[in-house]
Amino acid sequence: MKRLYLLGLLAGLSLQSTAAELRSPSLDDKPAFIDHLIEQMTLEEKIGQLRLISIGGDMPRERILDELAAGRIGGTFNTVTRHDNRPMQEAALRSRLHIPIFFAYDVVHGHRTIFPIGLGLASSWNLDTIARSGRVQAIEASADGLDMTFAPMVDISHDPRWGRTSEGFGEDPFLVSEIARTMVRAYQGQSQAAADSVTASVKHFALYGAVEGGRDYNIVDMSPLRMHQDYLPPYRAAIDAGAGGVMVALNSINGVPASANTWLLQDLLRRDWGFDGVTLSDHGAISELVRHGVAKDGREAARLAIEAGIDMSMADTLYLQELPGLVKSGEVGIDKIDTAVREVLGAKYEMGLFHDPFRRIGAAKDDPQDVNAESRLHREAARAVARESIVLLENNHRTLPLNKRGSIALIGPLADSPVDMMGSWSAAGVAKQSVTLRQGMLDALGDKAVLRHARGANITDDPHMVEYLNFLNWDKPEVVQDPRPAEEMIAEAVALAEQSDVIVAAVGESRGMSHEASSRTSLQIPQSQQALLKALKNTGKPLVLVLMNGRPLDLNWAKANADAVVETWFAGTEGGHAIADVLFGDYNPSGKLPISFPRSVGQIPTYYNHLRVGRPYVQGKPGNYTSQYFEEPNGPLYPFGYGLSYSDFETSEVRLSSPRMTRAQELEATVTVKNLGPRDGATVVQLYLRDEVASVIRPVKELKAFRKLFLKAGEAREVRFSIGEEDLKFVNAALERVAEPGSFELQIGLDSQRVQSAGFTLQ
Ligand code: NOJ
Repeated sequence: MKRLYLLGLLAGLSLQSTAAELRSPSLDDKPAFIDHLIEQMTLEEKIGQLRLISIGGDMPRERILDELAAGRIGGTFNTVTRHDNRPMQEAALRSRLHIPIFFAYDVVHGHRTIFPIGLGLASSWNLDTIARSGRVQAIEASADGLDMTFAPMVDISHDPRWGRTSEGFGEDPFLVSEIARTMVRAYQGQSQAAADSVTASVKHFALYGAVEGGRDYNIVDMSPLRMHQDYLPPYRAAIDAGAGGVMVALNSINGVPASANTWLLQDLLRRDWGFDGVTLSDHGAISELVRHGVAKDGREAARLAIEAGIDMSMADTLYLQELPGLVKSGEVGIDKIDTAVREVLGAKYEMGLFHDPFRRIGAAKDDPQDVNAESRLHREAARAVARESIVLLENNHRTLPLNKRGSIALIGPLADSPVDMMGSWSAAGVAKQSVTLRQGMLDALGDKAVLRHARGANITDDPHMVEYLNFLNWDKPEVVQDPRPAEEMIAEAVALAEQSDVIVAAVGESRGMSHEASSRTSLQIPQSQQALLKALKNTGKPLVLVLMNGRPLDLNWAKANADAVVETWFAGTEGGHAIADVLFGDYNPSGKLPISFPRSVGQIPTYYNHLRVGRPYVQGKPGNYTSQYFEEPNGPLYPFGYGLSYSDFETSEVRLSSPRMTRAQELEATVTVKNLGPRDGATVVQLYLRDEVASVIRPVKELKAFRKLFLKAGEAREVRFSIGEEDLKFVNAALERVAEPGSFELQIGLDSQRVQSAGFTLQ
């Protein structure tokens, strides 16, 4: 029988077993094991378990080791090598009760090998592809000694002004929920305890994507119906898939900060959803309760957070400072502390750390020589995933794919910027290891063609923005400005364009423009690049825009003026190769937008599954007293689910197995999808439902199923979907999930607007 704790056997450590340990229950009995540990803990040790500290902050390394050895830290984040982590774990194991710590990090879309940002992953609409990226992330992160990732980030966003839109998977509750589930399973593998698994801490609970005006950290004010219908399902999906952690959002919800929100953290999360993992505050969020104005001082903030159900405080000293006094005075019951400690120890147990605290750190002799290396297999995965994440928005006169034998002017500040390829939150990714578009095109072309390159413009010449971007705590300097006058840079680019057959312009945002705290009031490509694009357009040469950006942009000019437009998001380590694969036709693009692209900022929010209104706008028939704007039509410039291919695909009419269904019976909907050619390729068949009449107003349509399909040129295939009662359910005024009898319209198409439909009734 395994005995607590076996730690005395650990390499290089001479541990004194206490009498209590010898009486301890089997390690196989989780509740008894944890209760026994809690019984032995002093209040100070308990509070230590609730601290999640950031390495690299103010505390010197020696002090951290002392704190660990004193049992005053429960976990750390921001270190990413075994070599860094090992001495910390050893120090933790020198503490009186030898309780291991866990190591966490923001591995959101890659650890060493960086995959496309969240919006890019979602654009693949391929759960196997997304899982592949998640698995590689887990393998690399765990191999670097990490036990937990602060991911997946599943905040629904309807507002592209919000910079963190880039990190999420878009606007749709169904698609984001599917991805949330997939990511949790990919991170956690068969078991959280496996050496190559990392525990997923889903974030940011809850509703962070709905900050008012798209301004980061702003308030969220939302009806319960909308929460349950649109914003909560992805967190729920992640939890149902077994996510071991939940990171609590920085925003308030209907007047109460999430970090002090008992309804959110207890009633909803624990009672209704049955979550039994660990909750973490976001960075400094407990102290922020004072600035939210719900706590008069740090003492009250700590009390509110622990009472609401924040188990661990991230990078916040208030638990340490205030909980001892609060417990001694009786203002906080010891049961609250014990509950939180139980969750923390439970999470460590699930990670397998009590069985082997060095499960992921390994032995020093096995430490990798090169702490930055990505494996060839992982780079291949990154290239394959990135290719699928690219969305072809325009391709007039079949400008793409490009001829490898022609001459190409590759222009733009993002054509050769390794740091921007990675996107924000690039974990342990190393900029100089990422393949830029220029490198990717050179590798594809070999010596076959002429590739002329000029920067043409800075990403932005706005000094305020440059200063802010360089302030972000990443690879320094984040933004390197070309000191030449804008006119000179443009003239150089135009001269190269004039000598070439075609222009490829790599433009958009720097990665820091789509990040935490990087909200924008404009969705325009910055002015410096707009001037460049206009000059390039004036050459009369075919103009291909390769966009790099972390949010839907205003693409009116691009749509009207470019010959082809390719949305590549921030495509990651292998991004340059992947984009070149698409540009030259070595890969037929198959990505579809997971978020609507509005026509203008004034139109926000623009999302496809909006609720119905009493005076709806009718496409093409603007009129007074309908829900419309004067300046432009309703609806997006590019709709949800949209994306072109080098082939044309069509769907047949929808065939239903019956015009009626009962609750017990499934309905089958079938379409034939045909690749009209000229190339082999993939498309995404999307199924939407519209509930015609219900007890509460319902969205104009909702995604209910999708399937990515690869078809040879000329091939046709039947695609069959089953619809059951569960698919017809929605949240009613009493917040119950119900399916009400009546008429439904079922739509199948290749984006959210181009659909074929058929009606049926639920009896
Ligand atoms: C703050 C961010 O909101 C969160 O997403 C992240 O996980 C933490 N910082 C830790 O880096």
